[in-house]
Amino acid sequence: MSKKTTELREIAKIESERMREANPAQYFERNLHQLGFSDPEHALLQTIKEMTDNSLDATEVGSILPEIIIEVEETSEEITLPPQAGKVRKANMYRIRVEDNGIGIISNKIALSMGKVLFGSKLFTMKQMRGQQGVGISAVILYSQLTSLRPATIISKIEGEEKATRVVLKIDVDKNEPIVLEEQKIDWNKEHGTSVEVFIPARYTDKIDRYILELSIGNPHASFILRKKIEGKKSELAISRTTEKIPPPAKEIKPHLSSIDPGILQRMAEVDKDCKNLVSFLSKHFTSISPETAKKILKAARLSYSLPPNQIKADKVLEVARNIKLRRPKLEVLSNIGEEAIVAALKNRFKDAEFVAAVSRPPWTYQGIPFQVEVGVAIGGQEIANYANPKRITVIRLANKVPLPYDLSDCLLYKTVNEIDWKNYGLELNEKGVPVIPTVFVTSLVASKVPYTSPGKFAVASVEEIHDELVLALQELGRKIREYMYKKRKQESVVKRYEFFKGYYEVLAEEVGLITGGSKVNVNGILRKLFKEVKNTENVE
Ligand SMILES: Nc1ncnc2c1ncn2[C@@H]1O[C@H](COP(=O)(O)OP(=O)(O)OP(=O)(O)O)[C@@H](O)[C@H]1O
Ligand SMILES: [Mg+2]
Repeated sequence: MSKKTTELREIAKIESERMREANPAQYFERNLHQLGFSDPEHALLQTIKEMTDNSLDATEVGSILPEIIIEVEETSEEITLPPQAGKVRKANMYRIRVEDNGIGIISNKIALSMGKVLFGSKLFTMKQMRGQQGVGISAVILYSQLTSLRPATIISKIEGEEKATRVVLKIDVDKNEPIVLEEQKIDWNKEHGTSVEVFIPARYTDKIDRYILELSIGNPHASFILRKKIEGKKSELAISRTTEKIPPPAKEIKPHLSSIDPGILQRMAEVDKDCKNLVSFLSKHFTSISPETAKKILKAARLSYSLPPNQIKADKVLEVARNIKLRRPKLEVLSNIGEEAIVAALKNRFKDAEFVAAVSRPPWTYQGIPFQVEVGVAIGGQEIANYANPKRITVIRLANKVPLPYDLSDCLLYKTVNEIDWKNYGLELNEKGVPVIPTVFVTSLVASKVPYTSPGKFAVASVEEIHDELVLALQELGRKIREYMYKKRKQESVVKRYEFFKGYYEVLAEEVGLITGGSKVNVNGILRKLFKEVKNTENVE
């Protein structure tokens, strides 16, 4: 054996000895940046996002009008962070607490739902919810204990319970299990709800306020109180709901046969214990498959109807299923925001906006998954001028009613707004392609499963069907903008003409008065008749 061969064999042996299995807590502890915990500024926003996502889900399942309190308190304790580019960095420790009036958590599930990664009620469901993965809150707690060494405190109460349960916990990363440090029953002045508190090194910026404001546009039926104590100064941002109407609850759907992967179909069939044959298996587990359709598919796949499910040939079944036109799934399973609610929320947020409009498209599907697109716009006024980014088109992106704060340029919702030539719809653009008149767009996607680009849920992936629906929605919105801009320009030109003539008429009236020796002609009266369209112009009265 050559020296090289011996060396390579030795390296292979060492590498094999190093091989270990990792559990999800160990994986995410090392990869928290993938979930948005990359630095103190992002970590603060991500913590609030994960907590408020859960709060809104917990109210939505119970058809409860959400009341959410967010506390962000900067403590005087300083933490030294790992150096970056040779520079030592410090951040203050923050106390973050989010309290909701959701359905609450049964006491024996509090520790597991918070302190075990990939554990939750939304994991295997196909239902429009903000959470999908069972990672969010445990990632917050992982980040908190990793950086501050402090445990999380959870208080939760369900309807009818006399006392709430308070749990103080950490996560045992090597076992992916919660470590309960304290657990007791306490009095809590609330019928039902949950409060989660953590300590993390953080840095406050006004992105937090923006996030909550955007969240209120996606959830106009919710009220939010953001209580801050930053640099010793207390302040509060209170946003009341703009509608009392609770959106219809989202419904769970079964998967669509044409969109499932062969491996998943094969495994589902192998573990099925309830169905006697393939016909009942297919019609029980998939949307829009009647026993007749199942028979049609099995016949074309040359499989006997009476075979037990574990005898399925997943690749053959899918080849047929993808080639025949299967019925669409039911589309009334989504919970959208609604045109009226978007308009009301935008008017509430941008109180002096000159024009506000919204468009809701009917629901549609991608890969057998129902989705619905809605868009909105607010134009003009000082509040939008303060809010909008002068360097690019400002788009509030919402996925399942939650704002997406990062990865703008990778996001289909942003890219599609930029694809539209807004000049064609009467918006004058500057050299950067940004509307000259301050403008904010809203794009909202609700879906039984949102195609995010990453586990951090920062951006929507490019899916053709969603893109096409967005284009149609934005074009319809564009037509509303064009109509408004046309009226606005007409009005402006009338006012200009009015001002122009007014100068002449005043001189003329003076002269006529002098010549005739009579009283001055009522110029304003004449002009008002001539320029009926001119309203609210101070000179007119
Ligand atoms: N405020 C809350 N009220 C009630 N239940 C909650 C609350 N927060 C978390 N839970 C429960 O804990 C589970 C785990 O939450 P977690 O945020 O980790 O995952 P998720 O919301 O299911 O998915 P995602 O990782 O996408 O956020 C949830 O599925 C839910 O059952
Ligand atoms: Mg969550």
